[in-house]
Amino acid sequence: MAASAAPIKIAVLPGDGTGPEVTAEGLKVLKAVSALENFRFELTEFDFGGERYLKTGETLPAGAVDELRKFDAIYLGAVGHPQVPPGVLEKGLLLELRFQLDQYINLRPVKLFAGVETPLADKGPADIDFVVVRENTEDLYCGVGGFLKKHTKDEVATQTAIFTRKGCERCIRWAFDFTRKRNSAKKMLTLVAKTNVLTYGHDLWWRTFQEVAKEFPDVKADYQHVDACCMWMVKQPEYFDVIVTTNMFGDIITDLAAMLQGGLGVASGGNINPDPGGVSMFEPMGGSAPKYTGQNVINPIAAIGAAAMLLEHSGQPKAAARIMKAIEVVTGTKMKSQSAGKMGYGTREVGDLVVAAL
Ligand code: IPM
Ligand code: MN
Repeated sequence: MAASAAPIKIAVLPGDGTGPEVTAEGLKVLKAVSALENFRFELTEFDFGGERYLKTGETLPAGAVDELRKFDAIYLGAVGHPQVPPGVLEKGLLLELRFQLDQYINLRPVKLFAGVETPLADKGPADIDFVVVRENTEDLYCGVGGFLKKHTKDEVATQTAIFTRKGCERCIRWAFDFTRKRNSAKKMLTLVAKTNVLTYGHDLWWRTFQEVAKEFPDVKADYQHVDACCMWMVKQPEYFDVIVTTNMFGDIITDLAAMLQGGLGVASGGNINPDPGGVSMFEPMGGSAPKYTGQNVINPIAAIGAAAMLLEHSGQPKAAARIMKAIEVVTGTKMKSQSAGKMGYGTREVGDLVVAAL
């Protein structure tokens, strides 16, 4: 590809804990691949996260979201700080960005790289290679609910799951289109839900899925209940091609899936707004891992993979593929393990190895 005229404008949010260490490696790889593939990018760093919250009391300052809208993509490290109560940064930063930027697709590839150990006996890279498309703006994540008679013996709490026709339809259509383009031998999209119990919300998903499926006669439309899906993921992961699912179930099954592919150290994700002008955000799936902070032991592969996803979605698929190939050279021939402190190399050295393998 010829050098694109405009540089890719990337907002970098290194965040808390080991976030800055892993994004540094992702950016190192980005820089190297941009020289090889002849494209330009521009970085602007933001200090949102736990430290800033403890100093200022704000998670996202006024105007921050509008500032972020001006970028082509966001590259996020991790949020989570031991001194900040649970929920504050998750809700005030991560979920706030997903919602405000309407990143309605959470894309989580599940691929066992060469040389990476999976807890599943007798399964290898040919068996574990599927993608989860998780709806990212609705469901129990909406924060709808409340307390009655709080702190009394008669306390009542409600937490309501919201599902909308628009929300599920746009996610399902995107997932069908993604499955078509992925064009694997299976070419199958599995809806994962719980239609036998959630007879309102998931009935809406089910009906919408059937309707949208008609637009994609070349894609096999499949269904599994979420509990059965967990069973099959462990028993026969090669069954899956692409899964589309609701926000809460997607959160849970992608942690299970991440273990199949070797752990959170290698699992990357994208929060995608596919609409024209939409701003998407890419992140390693792992958290801020406070106990490993500053020790050069955390695994940067997931963050490097997230950088590849960012490039894939920013018009540089060749550069993205080049990074993914380099990752597999490093996992397949260099790294001893994908666990923090057991890689056989430090965080920075793993980044250097990926650069060398490009
Ligand atoms: C994830 C995380 C988040 C989620 C948390 C941190 C709010 O677990 O990205 O999967 O539940 O979506
Ligand atoms: Mn999660």
